[in-house]
Amino acid sequence: MHQIYSQISGWGKYVPDNVVTNFDLEKMVDTSHDWVVQRTGIEERRIATKNETTGTMAVAASQKALSVAGLTAADLDLIIVATSSPDYFVPAVSSTVQAALGANCPAFTVMTGCTGFVYALVTGHQFIATGAFKRVLVVGVELISRFIDWNDRNTCVLFGDGAGAVVLTPSLTPRGVLGFDLGSNGELGHNLILEGGGCANPFSQEVLDTGKHYLQMNGREVFKFATRILPQSTAKVLQHANLNLNDIDMLIPHQANARIIELAIKYLGIDPAKVFVNVNKYGNTSAASIPIALVEALEQGRIKADDKVALVSFGAGLTWASAVVQWGVAAPSLNGRETNAAILQEETAVV
Ligand code: UT7
Repeated sequence: MHQIYSQISGWGKYVPDNVVTNFDLEKMVDTSHDWVVQRTGIEERRIATKNETTGTMAVAASQKALSVAGLTAADLDLIIVATSSPDYFVPAVSSTVQAALGANCPAFTVMTGCTGFVYALVTGHQFIATGAFKRVLVVGVELISRFIDWNDRNTCVLFGDGAGAVVLTPSLTPRGVLGFDLGSNGELGHNLILEGGGCANPFSQEVLDTGKHYLQMNGREVFKFATRILPQSTAKVLQHANLNLNDIDMLIPHQANARIIELAIKYLGIDPAKVFVNVNKYGNTSAASIPIALVEALEQGRIKADDKVALVSFGAGLTWASAVVQWGVAAPSLNGRETNAAILQEETAVV
């Protein structure tokens, strides 16, 4: 029996056109551009407008990912959508995405906050590695701005909206997810919570009056957790993949705060040139942060075939999720669609 790897053969992102700068926020809450930049590194973020939903953003990113892979929605065997800001509690947004894409396959949603994409990626990888499925779409999407109290300066300056997607296909050469580290510490869950609207606090006038329908965060506690878990989980995932830090060509950390990333760089002793940062442009897009960063790194030509990329995330739960991914397919040039489609056809036929 051959070991089956799951390579990333398509990728795409979608961010709303609407840019909200720190200067815009200065007009809404008691904050300043300088405070936000110094404490978080964030300069601006994308905020969805009325016609955009979690579903529409996920579909836009997915269509791009399918196009890069040279596949259509009809080729998909499975869709996994990671989000904590779904369009509805029921039905799951994964089914909305499946229908809008025109796919005819199972679909489910993963809800682990900012770590959702990596959890979903690792889950998708299992289906490929067991031979159960050959084409899996994994989406990280978040429209968190609709769950933010725009009068709360503790949270409203931090977050942004967007989506990123990848297509996984089988490969017999080591590619895709080489190792992973997943974890959860629910005892710390109260530090990042949206209390209202679920079974514990069903919607009521009181929920609305007390603002429990908004995301609330104990920033200092999450900061402490993040700075501890980023280096720890990076070390663990490298161990699981049988690699050391020097083998890593690029580290893509969850984009929550540039200071958290700087501290992780210091603890790990990794060359900052190998660490991808775009939190300045998008803020914290939660489950979309890692796939958006991955796609941007590819667009900027910073990931080449055979590169080993570490994806390291932390978030609500509190959870953490990391994966080392070996890049397999070259970023498409103008004729990239054919290139990827040809490689894929060859690989998928063999497996
Ligand atoms: O995806 C995972 C989710 N979240 C995160 O990763 C966030 C982790 N935490 C953080 O990034 C940081 O803790 C924050 C950026 C949220 C806050 O930075 P901090 O350096 O930890 O600030 P702080 O909470 O210690 O607050 C310092 C001061 C406080 O004033 P006092 O009490 O010292 O008078 C805050 O009220 O800054 C004040 N403050 C602000 N001032 C201007 C808090 N938010 C703002 C603001 N503008 N937006």
